[in-house]
Amino acid sequence: MNDVADVRVAQRETDAFRAQLEAWQARMEQALAQRLPDSATVPGRLHDAMRYSVLGGGKRVRPALVFATARTLGLTEDEVEAAACAIELVHVYSLVHDDLPAMDNDDLRRGRPTCHKAYDEATAILVGDGLQPLAFELLAVDPALPASPEIRLRLIALLAEASGSLGMAGGQAIDLEVQGKRLDIAAVQDMHSRKTGALIRAAVAMAAACVPTLEPRLHAGLRSFAAAIGLAFQIQDDLLDVLGDSSTLGKATGADRERAKPTYPAVLGIPASQAQVSRLHAEALDALEPFGRRAEPLRLLANWLLSRRY
Ligand code: IPE
Ligand code: IPE
Ligand code: MG
Ligand code: MG
Ligand code: MG
Repeated sequence: MNDVADVRVAQRETDAFRAQLEAWQARMEQALAQRLPDSATVPGRLHDAMRYSVLGGGKRVRPALVFATARTLGLTEDEVEAAACAIELVHVYSLVHDDLPAMDNDDLRRGRPTCHKAYDEATAILVGDGLQPLAFELLAVDPALPASPEIRLRLIALLAEASGSLGMAGGQAIDLEVQGKRLDIAAVQDMHSRKTGALIRAAVAMAAACVPTLEPRLHAGLRSFAAAIGLAFQIQDDLLDVLGDSSTLGKATGADRERAKPTYPAVLGIPASQAQVSRLHAEALDALEPFGRRAEPLRLLANWLLSRRY
């Protein structure tokens, strides 16, 4: 009886969260479309390629983390929308470059040809070059961000640290360097925490930075939550490359094995990688304990994130 009731509650929660996520995704589509130069602005082909890469797809996980953290801290989506756009722009730039022949050499992204396939390699490099500074410009001057100059500077610093050579870009460098090599699991964890974890942690930290009076104890809870979710998210990405379906994922599967990437499933095996995702999920939920019921948006997001099939 209890099990059946539990399943019903979980199903209701998932349905309600799905509606919330779709609302956040629709909001982001508009927010990003407004902030990107239109395709008629010179140079039109570059702007067209930027819009092609950013709009019309993607789960918008990092913006969802910004919004769910904001809600947990009593802020509205309006107050953090520009920050959510900034982090998504950096993420999309990282995907466009990740797909290039010099990196993962992928043809399919978000269910469509990758940027360099739809346009050309030089344009895909320039799309990254265009999206990254636009992200920082938003943090510096976007009028929708009601943040003080001190908070804007903090947001710029957080995103810069997370995207640079000590964060995402450095993680990507390690990913290329270790292709075809055997790594122990600590080294894989370190690579994942840089290439993917850094931006996930930044999403939560940027929303938290908008509340300068946040108690250190709550900051620490959010940091532990984000660290656990960030690592689990990339382990799940690795698992989906083995177990997922290309048409649902909108990108190729089996690609990591083909390129001899030392992923979690390659190093630990599938069951142990799945167990690790469950452990990190539990760790993430524990970290939200000090917030009580207020952390419901983050709890629901974590539940969805770590049970996703796409
Ligand atoms: C894919 O990220 C690359 C990783 C860092 C795992 P997402 O799974 O968030 O990709 P989109 O934005 O939904 O396309
Ligand atoms: C990508 O990791 C990480 C970044 C883009 C920073 P993957 O190479 O595993 O991402 P997918 O599987 O191509 O989306
Ligand atoms: Mg890659
Ligand atoms: Mg890739
Ligand atoms: Mg992957």
